Amino acid sequence: MNDQGMRGYGDDVLGGAQDSERARLAAMAAVCDPTTARVLDDLGVGPGWRCLEVGAGAGTVATWLAGRVRPAGGHVVATDIDPRPLDDLAGPNLTVLHHDITCDPQPPGGPFDLVHARFVLEHLPAREEVLDRLVAWLAPGGVIVVESIAGFPVGSSPHPAFRRAMHAVEDVLAVTIGTDATWGRRFPAPLLDRGLLDVGLTVSLPATGGANASALCWALTLSRLRPHILEHQLVAADVLDEALDLLADPGFFDLAAATAIAWGRRPPAAPTPAV
Ligand SMILES: C[S@@+](CC[C@H](N)C(=O)[O-])C[C@H]1O[C@@H](n2cnc3c(N)ncnc32)[C@H](O)[C@@H]1O
Repeated sequence: MNDQGMRGYGDDVLGGAQDSERARLAAMAAVCDPTTARVLDDLGVGPGWRCLEVGAGAGTVATWLAGRVRPAGGHVVATDIDPRPLDDLAGPNLTVLHHDITCDPQPPGGPFDLVHARFVLEHLPAREEVLDRLVAWLAPGGVIVVESIAGFPVGSSPHPAFRRAMHAVEDVLAVTIGTDATWGRRFPAPLLDRGLLDVGLTVSLPATGGANASALCWALTLSRLRPHILEHQLVAADVLDEALDLLADPGFFDLAAATAIAWGRRPPAAPTPAV
């Protein structure tokens, strides 16, 4: 709990070692990893890169990166406040670190050619300060990629129970841990504001439905947050039940939150003036 009486990500809101949280992270990775890999691929991530994977979760992106950069001595540092799911992943070029991105010092292995954070900063009230830190840990010419939930598609859902339940997810995360599901909608402004070069933006919006991995991920999230949603009286239990029934129905299709993905490059070091 912080000075304002607000809980943090792992303070029994999300996170933890239970099977349902592992399943939630695995479903999240199944939905999002192909897009993340395509973006990182397009940015040229390759042999020899020194990478920092922040809030690594299940570690699937860190593992992908470790394979990609291994030739020519590349290395990945994967950090999380709860690195238990990462324990078995450490290897010759993948270091796992128990690390709080809001306050711990720059991890060893930097400065980094790539810093990547997916679904982490939007959950941190100090996200702007955290972004300052991440940019400062880039090598000259290094690339930062930030992925954030962007809740804007939910408002146009034609399914009232789903729409209300998904808004309740956003609202309960805002009041409990300080999540901002609108931050990603402003991308790539936070990177432009920091003077980064070659800034870009893409948005990913996979369908949630057909009982697919996205539907499973949102069902697990909704179930996990249910007691907090009810405690804060954001929607009634029967609305949550109806939304969970929809998410389990192979005939249901809708759009949940999008993922906004922004990137930018730290300016190369100024050339040493000739004397
Ligand atoms: C929604 S999950 C995303 C996991 C992974 N990045 C992904 O996209 O699959 C958020 C992750 O950030 C981690 N996290 C939350 N607050 C953190 C902090 N202050 N420092 C480092 N990691 C944090 C959580 O433990 C969790 O693993």
